[in-house]
Amino acid sequence: MSDKPDPDKSTIRRSIEDGVETFEATIEGETIQWDSGLTYSRHLQTEQLLNSQTPVSDKPDEMLFIIMHQTMELWIKLMLHETRVAMADISADRLERAGKTMDRIATIMRHMIHSWEVLATLSPHDFLTFRGFLRKASGFQSHQYRELEFLLGLKRPDLILVHDGNEAAKARLTETLNAPSLYDEVLQALARAGADIPQNKIERDWSEPYEPDDAVEQAWQAIYTDPDQHWPLYALGEKVTALEYYFQEWRFKHMKTVARVIGHKHGTGGSSGVNYLVKALDLDFFPELWSMRTHMSAKREGGDYNECPVQ
Ligand code: HEM
Repeated sequence: MSDKPDPDKSTIRRSIEDGVETFEATIEGETIQWDSGLTYSRHLQTEQLLNSQTPVSDKPDEMLFIIMHQTMELWIKLMLHETRVAMADISADRLERAGKTMDRIATIMRHMIHSWEVLATLSPHDFLTFRGFLRKASGFQSHQYRELEFLLGLKRPDLILVHDGNEAAKARLTETLNAPSLYDEVLQALARAGADIPQNKIERDWSEPYEPDDAVEQAWQAIYTDPDQHWPLYALGEKVTALEYYFQEWRFKHMKTVARVIGHKHGTGGSSGVNYLVKALDLDFFPELWSMRTHMSAKREGGDYNECPVQ
């Protein structure tokens, strides 16, 4: 083997490409390129992102608490974005495209559900070391979480109150409150496709909490009873149901992780804690998609034991 140094090694080759300074180097046998036009850290704003973890205590476990909340907030931000993409497709009757986007949202939710396992490594003692420093700060004040609830279909205007003083958050929440939700868009799509949806469900004051309706339940039941006849709407119903199914699982894992960490203590936000979170498990986004299942029935078949292939 020659001892002569490789002239390419440790040297950066400079050129101008597309009008910007461009760099190339050979690192461990690979040709690596970058340019001054757009770098990884400028695109992703990693400096800002990685300088946004500021513990309020000197306790080592607070960092986990901060990063868990921040990553969840980022995922919620993406879900808000994707839900709006899906809603635009539903309103244009591009149901298959909307289905693809809703699959992505469901996958994000499953990822978030799984990530509670990381927070579950925070023992009651670990949390108590910094709990006092949090004062009254609580996830209850997450305006993105509330916006996602509104966007999916759960409108609870009173909850905007806690954002008094944060005008930007209040404006976003008020805008989402006053606009159709994902479920409103779904019901409009059903009506356009010929389902019997009452007019007061497709033209209403969007800021009002959605009231379940027997006729809507019957429309879903008709779709679910004969999927072959209504496949696109049936598939839409199942994609939407999956979102609530996983959202509830997220709520459940949050509640169970909280129980594991603080037992039945009150929350930092002042609520009854676990009891408050248990109550949230009864909240619905798409009520008739659930109630309809109870009332569905199959035509009677298979009652003759003499014809049963297993004797
Ligand atoms: C050890 C960790 C955690 C504890 C002990 C905890 C505790 C609680 C409690 C007791 C509440 C009820 C409100 C209150 O009185 O404060 C609450 C609400 C909430 N928490 Fe957490 N939490 C934890 C982690 C998280 C994480 C990582 C997130 C992610 C963003 C989160 C998001 C929320 C949200 C969105 C609410 C409002 C739920 C609703 O109003 O339905 N929490 N939390």
